[in-house]
Amino acid sequence: MNERILDPTEKTEESTIINLRPQRLNEYIGQEKVKEKLKITIDAAKKRKEPLDHILLAGPPGLGKTTLANVIANEMGANIQITSGPVLERAGDLAAILTNLQNGDVLFIDEIHRINRSVEEILYSAMEDFQLDIVIGKGPGARSIRIDLNHFTLIGATTRTGLIAAPLRSRFGIIMEMNFYPPEELKDIITRSAKLLNVEITEDAALLIAERSRGTPRIANRLLKRVRDYAQINNNGIIDIESAEKTMTLLEIDTEGLDDMDRRILKTIIEFYKGGPVGLKALAASLGIEADSISEVYEPYLLQKGFLVRTHRGRVVTEKALKHLGYSRENNKKLYSLWGN
Ligand code: ADE
Repeated sequence: MNERILDPTEKTEESTIINLRPQRLNEYIGQEKVKEKLKITIDAAKKRKEPLDHILLAGPPGLGKTTLANVIANEMGANIQITSGPVLERAGDLAAILTNLQNGDVLFIDEIHRINRSVEEILYSAMEDFQLDIVIGKGPGARSIRIDLNHFTLIGATTRTGLIAAPLRSRFGIIMEMNFYPPEELKDIITRSAKLLNVEITEDAALLIAERSRGTPRIANRLLKRVRDYAQINNNGIIDIESAEKTMTLLEIDTEGLDDMDRRILKTIIEFYKGGPVGLKALAASLGIEADSISEVYEPYLLQKGFLVRTHRGRVVTEKALKHLGYSRENNKKLYSLWGN
C-alpha cells in the first residue's frame, strides 16, 4: 500500500525518535477551552488530594488525545498505563491491568469505542465503584468474585462521543470534544517542533505548512519533517516558503490541504453519483476502501471545510468542492442542482 502523508492515524516510528509531544499543560498549544476546563479540574482534584474524575476525550484522529492524556498524568504527578480498545480482547486482559493500578494512576484506553462488549461490562463497576466483578470457571461450578480496586482515573479516547454506548458514556465525569486546530495554532506547533528538531524555518513557511495540515498536529509535524528533508537537500537546511511550496507540490497536497485520496473521494461522488447524494457503503465500494475509514479518517475534514455535506439521503458535494476541483457551471450542467445562485 502507498503511504498517505496526510493520514492522521499514527505510524509506529513517529513518537519515538525526538519527542515533539508537549509534556505539560503550559506547553500544549491550542484547544483552549479543553485546557481551561482541564486546568480547573486538575487544580481542584489536587487541592482535595483526590484522583481525577474519569475523562472522555473525543475528536478526529491526530488531534493529540494521547498527548493530552500524558499531559494530564504529568500534571497530576501520576503514573499512566496506556492500552487500546481493540487490544483488550477478553475481560481478563482488562482485569489484569486494573488490578495492577495504584491509587491515582491514570489508565488511558485509546479507541475505547472499539472495546468488546464483555470487556466493557466489567468497566462499569470498575469506574463507578472501583470494584471488579469477575466470573471464574464455567457451567454449574462457575462463581463470581469481587475484587476491590485502587482509585484510578480512566481517560478514554474516541473519534466521536456518539460511538460510545450511553451506559459507558454516563460513567465519565468529564466529556471533552476536541476540534481541528486553526492554521495559526498549527503554525505555533510547527514553530515549536522546528525548534526541537533544530531546524530554521521562516514564518511564512510555517504558516504554509499549517494551512496544508488539515487542522491536525500529527500531520503538521509529519509534513514539517518532509519539508526539512527537502530543505536539507536543496536549501542548506533552511525551510523557507519556496522549499515548503515545492515539497507540497511533490506530495500533491493542494492549497486546501487535500491530497489525492480526498480529491478521489470528491471526484467519485461527482462523476459516478452526479454529485450525490450517495450512501457511505456505495461510495466505499466505488473507491475500494473501507466505509469506516471514509467516515472516521477522510470525511471529518472534508465536512469541516465545507466540501461535503451529510444529508439524510447520503453524502453530497458542495459548490465549493466543484469550484476547487475545477468544474464550472457552464461545462457541467448535469450537476445543476449543486450550483448555487
Ligand atoms: N505537538 C502535537 N500536538 C501539540 C500541541 N497541541 N501543542 C504543542 N505541541 C504539539
